[in-house]
Formats: sequence, structure tokens, C-alpha cells
Amino acid sequence: MRILSIETSCDETAISLLEITGEFPDIQVQVIDSKLASQVAAHQEYGGVYPSLAKRLHARNFPVLLEQIVKNNEETAHPDINASQKKQIQEWLTRHDGLADKIFTLVKKHGITRVDAVAVTVGPGLEPALWVGINIARSLALITDVPIVPTNHMEGHLLSTLVPDDITDGGTHHLKEVAFPAIALLVSGGHTELTLMDKWRSYEKIGQTRDDAAGEAFDKIGRLLGLPYPAGPEIAKLAQSAQKSGKLSLPRPMIDTDNFDFSFSGLKTAAARTIEKNQPLSEEDRSAFAHELQQAIIEVLTKKTEIAARKTEAESILVGGGVSANQLLRSQLKSVAKDLQTDFHIAPPTLTTDNATMIGLAGYVNRDKRVQPRSDIEASSRLSL
Ligand code: KG4
Ligand code: ZN
Repeated sequence: MRILSIETSCDETAISLLEITGEFPDIQVQVIDSKLASQVAAHQEYGGVYPSLAKRLHARNFPVLLEQIVKNNEETAHPDINASQKKQIQEWLTRHDGLADKIFTLVKKHGITRVDAVAVTVGPGLEPALWVGINIARSLALITDVPIVPTNHMEGHLLSTLVPDDITDGGTHHLKEVAFPAIALLVSGGHTELTLMDKWRSYEKIGQTRDDAAGEAFDKIGRLLGLPYPAGPEIAKLAQSAQKSGKLSLPRPMIDTDNFDFSFSGLKTAAARTIEKNQPLSEEDRSAFAHELQQAIIEVLTKKTEIAARKTEAESILVGGGVSANQLLRSQLKSVAKDLQTDFHIAPPTLTTDNATMIGLAGYVNRDKRVQPRSDIEASSRLSL
């Protein structure tokens, strides 16, 4: 089955074309093509993602990416878009100036890639940003006369943990096999949650953040240090040059509580106080602070995941989401899994942050939930697993 997948939930505009066969989880995946436009630079002056700008940039970037995908692939259909379809698409895309016409022109000039379904993220995420993807997906599904699969972004992050590192080499790949029960740590800019699974598609959330997500903590505290958005990778870089944490110590919130919840807003308050108390920060102080901050966040994530895996007698630990790009988190969790003798699956570096390949996988897994493009599809900012 050939799936075109679309991700626009936050600040990455992404599109993938996948060929997937088999019955999940025993499936073979080929990434035929994959394109991504990051909006990070545009949001930097706001210190975080600005929803209406995200929406505008998704609408601007998408046709450019789609054109690259269509031009790169030879299996192209040349459908005639009839008047009723045009009217419908113009209605769906009415809030995005000129987008419908750009799509019509593109299809007329290059045709459109042959697909069997279109998968699109419907949540969680920023609602205005999600709607762009949904309405584009609908339009493409209508043009190509295929169904649409509404897809959960978090399930995408979860499935990305099963993808082998060489997924983008153009070849066909099996997913990694998971032994159950499994504990999944999904940790991104908007989410920090622990999910227990005793089989596929059965998700029991056993812990989550009560306030800020771990990635959000990196981003907000990094901003206090004057680092650009997203600050997670910047903090990690700065931490590398630290000699030692020294006087700049930070709390490990909720590390010893008897549950699997997280809380990072207290860390932000403590961090603000520490920065203020130690003004002016020398370069050495800044890297020592980054080191301590990274340590604090990662210790909490690692300890809670370890306890969850122990208590549930998990056979495997899965880790996905943007923060799972962090090398220290990757190595600490790997050694926890080794100590517990559980399997360890972490998203490949290319698929930790938002991407459309994971959405194509989630679309395939949920293809029984496909709907017609004209049916009601809702963006759901708080959708959970
Ligand atoms: O999954 P993602 O791309 O978007 C959301 O769905 O939120 O995650 C983005 C988050 C940002 O908060 C970013 O600072 C964080 O992932 N991040 C990192 C690293 N790379 C990205 N955090 C810590 N260390 C990193 N190396
Ligand atoms: Zn994400």
C-alpha cells in the first residue's frame, strides 16, 4: 500500500511517501521519498512557536515540498479535477490565500503521485497548524480518489521507536519486534508521558507531566539563558563544555514520588532564581548551568522510566519524541535497559523530532479507520494516545 503522509502539527511541515506491506507489526516499509521544511528560524524571534505564523508557513511550504515529491517520482496519475472537486477544495483551503490554485496548477503541470491513501496528523498539536494539514490532505485525497486516515501524532512518535537506523536508505525494512509488556517514554516539546502496553494499540497512560513538558522546560529555561528556540539541542551542546556543575545546583522535581507523573514548572522557577542569584554568569557558569539542567531533566526522566519498567515487569522500553535526540538521555536509558535486561528501542536520530514518516506508519497501522475526504474530520489539539 502506498501512503502519502502529512505532518503539520507544530513547526515542521513534512510529507512522506511510503510503500508498506504486511500485517502490523510484521510489516515492510520503504521510504520512497520524504521532505521536511523546518520553521524554526521564523519562530525564533518569538522565543517559541507562534501558531498563526505556523499556519501561514505550513500553507506556504507545503506546495513546494509536494512539487518535489511529485517531480521525484515516476508513478504519477494525471487526474482531471472537475468543477465540483475544485469548488470543494477551494472551500477547504479558503483561509490559505492562493493555496488551492497552487495545488491545481501543480497537478495540471506535473500530475500527482499515485497513492492508495493519505494519512494526516489530526492531533495533538496546534489547532490552526493541524487544520492546514487536514485540509490539504482532504484535497489531495479527493483529487486522487483515495481515503484519508486521521492519525495521532503521539502514536507516530511511538511507532518511530521501531524504525531501524537505515530507514531512509531507499531500501525495504522490517520494523523491530517488541516484547510485551512494554513501557514507552514519549518526550517532546508538548508531551512527557509514560505509557504501558500489553499489546499493540492498547495504550494505558500511567504517568504524564502535570505542567510543562520536558522539551518545554529545556526551551523555556534555555530562553532565560538567552539561547535560541528550540533550546534543547543548544543546552546539550553547552553542557558538553562544562567542567563540573559546582554551585549551580537544581532540583530533580518529583524524582522520589510514588507515581509516574512529572512536573517541570518548579524547575523553571528554581532555574530563574539560580540565574538571577549568580548574575553576571560567566561562560563557565553558563555551561555549568546547562550541564546541571540537562542532568536534572534527564535524571528524572530516566529514574521514572526505570521504576515504571521495574514495577510493570516490562520486557521492553521504547523511547521517542524530540527530546529523545538527547545523547545523554539515549545512553542513560540504554544502560537502565541493560541493567533490567529489557529490550531497548529508541527512535533513529532522523526520526526523533517531528516528521511525516512516523505519520505514514501510524496511518498504515490505523488504516481500518480510514474515511472519505468529504467526511467530518476534526483537528483535536489535546488528542491523547
Ligand atoms: O517532537 P518534537 O519535534 O515536537 C513536538 O512534538 O513537541 O520535539 C521538540 C522538542 C523541543 O522542545 C526541543 O528543545 C527538544 O525536542 N529537543 C531536545 C533535543 N533535540 C530536540 N531536547 C534536549 N536535547 C536535545 N538534543
Ligand atoms: Zn512531536
